[in-house]
Amino acid sequence: MTTRVIDPSETFTRFIATPGDKSISHRALMLSAMADGASTIRGLSNGEDVARTSTILGQLGATIVRTIDDVVVTGPSEGLRASTEELYCGNSGTTIRLLLGMLSGIEGIHRITGDSSLSRRPMDRVAIPLGLMGIQISGQGDKLTPPLVVEGKRGTRAISYEMPQASGQVKSALLLAGLFADGSTTVSEDVRTRSNTEEMLQLAGITVTSVERGKGRTVTVKPGRPQPREWNIPGDPSQAAFFVVAGLIHPQGDVQIADIYDGAERLGFLSVLSRMGGAITRKPSPFGLRLQIRHSRLRGTTIHSSEIPSVDEVPALVVAACAADGESRFIAMSELRVKESDRFAESIRLAEALGSKVSIEGDDFVVTGLGSSRHFLRFEFEAPDDHRMAMSSAIAAYCGQGGVVFGAESVETSFPGFFELLTGSE
Ligand code: S3P
Repeated sequence: MTTRVIDPSETFTRFIATPGDKSISHRALMLSAMADGASTIRGLSNGEDVARTSTILGQLGATIVRTIDDVVVTGPSEGLRASTEELYCGNSGTTIRLLLGMLSGIEGIHRITGDSSLSRRPMDRVAIPLGLMGIQISGQGDKLTPPLVVEGKRGTRAISYEMPQASGQVKSALLLAGLFADGSTTVSEDVRTRSNTEEMLQLAGITVTSVERGKGRTVTVKPGRPQPREWNIPGDPSQAAFFVVAGLIHPQGDVQIADIYDGAERLGFLSVLSRMGGAITRKPSPFGLRLQIRHSRLRGTTIHSSEIPSVDEVPALVVAACAADGESRFIAMSELRVKESDRFAESIRLAEALGSKVSIEGDDFVVTGLGSSRHFLRFEFEAPDDHRMAMSSAIAAYCGQGGVVFGAESVETSFPGFFELLTGSE
């Protein structure tokens, strides 16, 4: 386990380029591998999670070559084929869930494993609807945790499915399985989840429609094979979130962030932080969204999970809440419990380690802010399996009174170089 001792800093002026967006990176690799011919990907995430997807696609028959600037992925003309080897997804929930959708249409038996964190995560949310599409998936216990075995077939049954939870990964798995179906597949959501898969399928020549349905959407995909193309991947807003929060709460914060993916479902955290009084300037550019952040005195707010579907940015928002004046209420946060760690419990543990009071009621919790990050206590925090908890605790230490992060290697899954960027120690 790697330990990082982080000292508090007097100044914090940074220009941050985040890695390529992780969600888009996984999908660019998968769609390219499914295509017939060569696709070029520019700006792929350099984290371990995306590397897991790449290795697995190689095992399934795609050719993946890294050049200095790009990654060239060639999908075999005859299509991907089952591998006799285990497909190891490491810590990556997006790899395993989207893969389940893809493998549905690849004939043969597929064996899928992950690390200890992934082996605790529920896969029934994908296996149940894929079962309706005629695909058998077996796993461990009621929640079908990995290791998993998938029996892929030539062709899946088209279904219409209402997702019981707001999950970008479940929607994406079903849309990918829908590419092999005997008709149009429809997925409905009550809350808008990230639309990266729909957007990218359309760019790859697949017919996808998306219509509003209350606060959510209904997405329909027609079967087809993605076409090869050039993918340019913008920066990752969920990684930018750590620097946005740090820039706001550090008393000398002055942070600029380069072009991130400008998609509404991914930017709810910016609206929350602006509502808390954060000075965030958004500047659209041809390559994404640029941000300028200056230190601000924050005030507490109420945050409902539907504002931040997937809840990836909640641990960083909890750090912001600890630095704010007054109470912040986090409502309907049950999805936090099934991430790389139980982020519901871990976020509360971090807030308490910083000296904030937290009260819990069911799936809600209330954080009482300390008024400034300079009032945080020096603390120790363990985050061996969870990159977002490691990065949240690191910004709290750096903007507060310092601290020690155990299990800091988890950051490699999504943001190699994060600590150097944070502490300015390239
Ligand atoms: C992701 C979806 C989200 C998110 C994850 C990436 C994706 O999970 O937490 O980091 O790329 O589809 P949900 O399935 O919970 O929305």
